[in-house]
Amino acid sequence: MTSSFLWWLRVAVIVAMAVHSSPVSTAAERAPLRSKVFHSPPFTLSPGSVEGKYYGDIGFPRGHIALKDFRAELVDEAGNPVPLHDAYIHHWLVVRYYQRKRSGAAGPPREPPESLITGNASPSKGPPEYILAGNAGTCEKILRQTFGLGSETRRTVTWVPDPYGIEVGNPAEVPAGYEEKWMMNVHAIDTRGVVDRLGCIECRCEFYNVTVDESGRPLGKDYPGGVLCCHDKARCRTGEGSGGAPRKLFMRYEVKWLDWAAGIVPTKLYVLDVTDDGKRGPVASTDEFNDCQVEYHVAPCGREASGACIDSKRAFLVLPSGGNIVYAVAHQHRGGVGAALYGQDGRTLCSSTPIYGRGEKAGDEAGYVVGMTTCYPSPGSVKVTSGERVTLISNYNATEPHSGVMGFFYILVADPPESTVQLTGRLLHSNYFWVLLGGITVASAVVVLYRRRREIGQRYQSLAL
Ligand SMILES: *[C@@H]1O[C@H](CO)[C@@H](O)[C@H](O)[C@H]1NC(C)=O
Ligand SMILES: *[C@@H]1O[C@H](CO)[C@@H](O)[C@H](O)[C@H]1NC(C)=O
Repeated sequence: MTSSFLWWLRVAVIVAMAVHSSPVSTAAERAPLRSKVFHSPPFTLSPGSVEGKYYGDIGFPRGHIALKDFRAELVDEAGNPVPLHDAYIHHWLVVRYYQRKRSGAAGPPREPPESLITGNASPSKGPPEYILAGNAGTCEKILRQTFGLGSETRRTVTWVPDPYGIEVGNPAEVPAGYEEKWMMNVHAIDTRGVVDRLGCIECRCEFYNVTVDESGRPLGKDYPGGVLCCHDKARCRTGEGSGGAPRKLFMRYEVKWLDWAAGIVPTKLYVLDVTDDGKRGPVASTDEFNDCQVEYHVAPCGREASGACIDSKRAFLVLPSGGNIVYAVAHQHRGGVGAALYGQDGRTLCSSTPIYGRGEKAGDEAGYVVGMTTCYPSPGSVKVTSGERVTLISNYNATEPHSGVMGFFYILVADPPESTVQLTGRLLHSNYFWVLLGGITVASAVVVLYRRRREIGQRYQSLAL
């Protein structure tokens, strides 16, 4: 009786654990991976011109889903990839927002304003027209994107590994009276026929003939270049000759996703910025609380420098909440030689380096950053804790000066999956477990009694013989 009971108890525990934990291990595999290709609205670039618009309500999968991948690239009207030396992708951003639902008579919705992202929106009375969904930090005021890359877009892996996903469209999170939408910012520079390609892609103000920012404020002498000089409609200096005809381009992007299911583990996205140093910079100058300056400048190390000529910029940042890092990647511009993120105790959380192209074709353009290496730590091996002070270091080759460079780190952090001890603890607290255990105990008792009676019956039979 006792050994049989123990056997049944073991079976009961194993069955109950399997039943209880099966969604964690199999749901993500059961749901089919969906994918769809979308195009941004078209825009026209001619030699030297800059495109920097924000497009509201772009094509995007709807509903409660787990985003798994987002691949973007610039293409022409025939769908051919456009190489970076023709149209340089300074950056693109995909930003989630909520738009107030309108009654039928209200007319078509307005495009969400750029000020929504830059944080310069003036407060209005009544409920806001738009609310940014943002990410988990730590540049909440200016880096609000869910996805965003630059010239490296073609060769940077953005896959979110199983069983994780970026959860969006959760009806419980969309504010009442609003609907979830997405906008895209594309910043591209046509460098056909320009006098200085590097000067144009680094947005050096001298090549754009720009001395004031978009709203007319004078730029300081210490601002050699950056996004304030290569804004939408700015022009980079072109040489003699035409450089080529205007052409219509699109951002083509492929989204992969799963319908939301139990067992998909949601992740938090942090977008860290190496310029987040507590000082205010020109880009974020209108926002009192924002320490993220987005871009910075690399001064040349000079001829007298011996040894490595590297500009190393660092920031100490506090992560509001912790968990397992499941994916990480840095964003750097041309001249970048790598960025790394370290934990408070100095352990490396991720190191990500630029991949430089060597050829002509789109995806391999010589001298351009065509990809960034990524980190996929084996499950549970790289953790950060709530409130941990991490160090972000961004290194640039300082042989030449660089303006308007960036040092971001994207990290996806998931709550650690429940351990077996926690799972068993939760099992012992669930009614389901006790009902199952009770049922199995009764069943085993019945079997034991039945066997006894059969044995007794057989004994009588043998006696009868
Ligand atoms: C830039 O400005 C200078 C002086 O204002 C002018 O001579 C020059 O033509 C301008 N260049 C371009 C490309 O607009
Ligand atoms: C830095 O750039 C110079 C050319 O500007 C190049 O010769 C050198 O190899 C580069 N160094 C590194 C570490 O990439």
